[in-house]
Amino acid sequence: MHIPTLIERKREGGSLSASEIQDLIAAFTSGKMPDYQMSALAMAIYFKGMTTEETAALTQAMLHSGSVLKWPAEAPLRVDKHSTGGIGDKTSLIIAPLLAADGLWVPMISGRGLGITGGTLDKLESIPGFRTQLSEAEIHQVIESIGCVMVGQTADICPADKKLYALRDVTGTVPSVPLITASILSKKIAEGLHRLVLDVKFGSGAFMKTRSEAQALADSMCRTAEAMGVKTQVRLNPMDEPTGLAAGNALEVAEAVCCLQGKGPADLEDLVLDLSAAVSLSSREQLRAKLHAGEAWVIFQKMITMQGGDVTALEKMAQLHAAPVIHEVKSPASGILTRLDARHIGLAILGLGAGRAQADDHIDPAVGVDQMLKVGQSIHAGEVLLRIHARSQAAAEAAEKEVLQGLTIR
Ligand code: URA
Repeated sequence: MHIPTLIERKREGGSLSASEIQDLIAAFTSGKMPDYQMSALAMAIYFKGMTTEETAALTQAMLHSGSVLKWPAEAPLRVDKHSTGGIGDKTSLIIAPLLAADGLWVPMISGRGLGITGGTLDKLESIPGFRTQLSEAEIHQVIESIGCVMVGQTADICPADKKLYALRDVTGTVPSVPLITASILSKKIAEGLHRLVLDVKFGSGAFMKTRSEAQALADSMCRTAEAMGVKTQVRLNPMDEPTGLAAGNALEVAEAVCCLQGKGPADLEDLVLDLSAAVSLSSREQLRAKLHAGEAWVIFQKMITMQGGDVTALEKMAQLHAAPVIHEVKSPASGILTRLDARHIGLAILGLGAGRAQADDHIDPAVGVDQMLKVGQSIHAGEVLLRIHARSQAAAEAAEKEVLQGLTIR
């Protein structure tokens, strides 16, 4: 294999064969292909794209760069959902135990926050003691006992993706449909799934700003996952306002607990039920009944305990992580809220310390916003629009400024 020739071919818009892609990924994973050549190839793919066959070959190559979870032949159906990220989106915390309560297995490998979008692992780590890094043996033990597990990528799962993602992150090659498709699906397929639902967000707080961009990503992921034998459903969901009433790590766990107890905000519960029903054998109504009967809540508590977390913390997350400043943002006008822009809320909570600017930044679990008004609700001038949880008054004021830029009341 002459790597420069393959890079040049892709640069000129040509195609790579499955065996060439396989050899490139193997060489990159083993260190034989240097980062500068892979960066050049990623940039060529960014500009020229990949065919469906190339994307499937790249996904296969990344999947087989490491180990794949293996399950007993008689094990229940394995299902999962993947969301392309949003603000205040804590649905995974509810969906995994709900589907487990439905008799399915959910070996959920999740990620961390990226830019302004939150990450499931960061949320879970606000629960004292909770471990997101489990060995494969521990993953099996938790799943076989309760039907769901929520973990980070292990060192053995898709090492090619780990290395390539880190490179893309610093070479301007993240927003490429084939590269995103292969990155996300290689990790999901490594879970040994039968069914997958993809929650592809579009709007101000999402990776994909327009519905048509989201549709292109959804089509690519759906085609590739189906070609690899995973029955896949897609849901395109707007991310113009945050999901639920809270955004920020511990505040989102608190809201997820409310939802698991059947007392969650309507938009959050609706999204949970839509996505769960897409991969379940039960209907939306049957899933709602399970959620309201507390079946998912029981499994969630067991999962927290089995993964080392303090289950007694779950109903007092906000008190445990009380931020020193709780600042009420008052509405500047009377009328109907027509916009509470997810991007501005995301930037506000990033500024408070709920996310990272660099990969090794520390996350502050306590900060964020809660008690958000929802679009369509009415408010009088001077009434509370939302609360900001901050480390200092100055940080709260900076966050308020950001929030107010994303606000429209008519
Ligand atoms: N999340 C991933 O895991 N990979 C991507 O490429 C984008 C988001």
